[in-house]
Amino acid sequence: MRLSSRAINVQASPIRRLTPLLLDAKKRGIVVHHLNIGQPDIETPKPFWDAVKNYDEKVLAYGLSDGFPELKDAVAQYFGRFGVSLNQSEIQVTTAGSEAVLYSLCLVSDPSDEVLVFEPFYTNYNGFGTIAGIKVVPVTTKAEDGFAIPSFEEIEKKITSKTRAIIICSPNNPTGHILTPEELERIVAVAKKFDLFIISDEVYREFTYEGAKATSIFEIKGADERCIVCDSISKRFSACGARVGFLICKNKKVMESALKFAQARLCPPTLEQIGAIAAYRMDPSYFDPIRVEYQKRRDVLLEVLNSNREIVVKKPQGAFYIMAKLPVEDSDDFASFLLKDFNDKGETTMVAPGDGFYATEGAGKDEVRLAYVLNVEKTKRAGEILLKGLEEYRKK
Ligand SMILES: Cc1ncc(COP(=O)(O)O)c(C=O)c1O
Repeated sequence: MRLSSRAINVQASPIRRLTPLLLDAKKRGIVVHHLNIGQPDIETPKPFWDAVKNYDEKVLAYGLSDGFPELKDAVAQYFGRFGVSLNQSEIQVTTAGSEAVLYSLCLVSDPSDEVLVFEPFYTNYNGFGTIAGIKVVPVTTKAEDGFAIPSFEEIEKKITSKTRAIIICSPNNPTGHILTPEELERIVAVAKKFDLFIISDEVYREFTYEGAKATSIFEIKGADERCIVCDSISKRFSACGARVGFLICKNKKVMESALKFAQARLCPPTLEQIGAIAAYRMDPSYFDPIRVEYQKRRDVLLEVLNSNREIVVKKPQGAFYIMAKLPVEDSDDFASFLLKDFNDKGETTMVAPGDGFYATEGAGKDEVRLAYVLNVEKTKRAGEILLKGLEEYRKK
């Protein structure tokens, strides 16, 4: 018997591939601070839990393949707050943002087609690309340019007859960059010239700092029919385990096919949709203190990292990650060292090696991605341990 080439080639997530070392460290009694994964410690809102607890059916039945109409209405109302008008037929509830991204890729491309993505990018686009049988073609962005996207001409150079779509993510995981309306217009212009789809991952929409605002691709004129927005409650309502997300598109043909994909996997989670309806109905002021909290965490982590002059970081404007360039040759080896060979008073820090956030061979090898999802005190401590570990590592 032989496995498929996609089974053999699919990447292990750099966020999770060090898990065996993590489990081993825990077995040795080491306390591990997780800066490797975007799992927020913010409590899932009470209305979500109340709605789930009050669910009063005797059978936990299948729901509709494209989700509960009440949830779609709640999502449409939420988009209405920033001037985007949507109706139920333009929204499909998915099993979280991950399924929305995978479906989007499969909806717009055939095996061996290509999609452009600005790197560094959310690492699982690599995995989804392999599962879909397509090639993820990187367009590199750099910390020194604030991770802004390159010119029209630079983007255009990467387009071939096989290119089907451009993936964007704003606020960005892992860079924290927020695409400006001008950048979004440039992407739309490229997409129009080459008749491409735009897959816009907007799962971090609310996480913006110092007054910055994330613009949805739907807010850009003339983009409608070629845009698929992938969204999720995982980060928005700190409900990562709920597995509720959305594929949103104003193109009827896309939505008709998306529904057939959805029918094949029956339905998204029932109880969690009930919770999500209540969460979406909350007042938008819910996000204000959360934004303040994340900004504090970002600032404390930046302060610790900036205390080492050899570390290069760019202040992120949004999401809750920092891509940090370290004075190491192989951040995977360093991340393993932190788990295997280092502790400070019985504590260590777990980070995600940077190379998995790139598609360019060899890129990101001296970078790590850090998630500031722990409270201020823990984030500070985790950052300090990272610096101590770095000092020890370089003595090796
Ligand atoms: C940019 C981005 N998109 C999509 C996802 C997937 O989120 P979920 O499947 O939990 O909705 C994540 C998760 O970390 C992410 O960072």
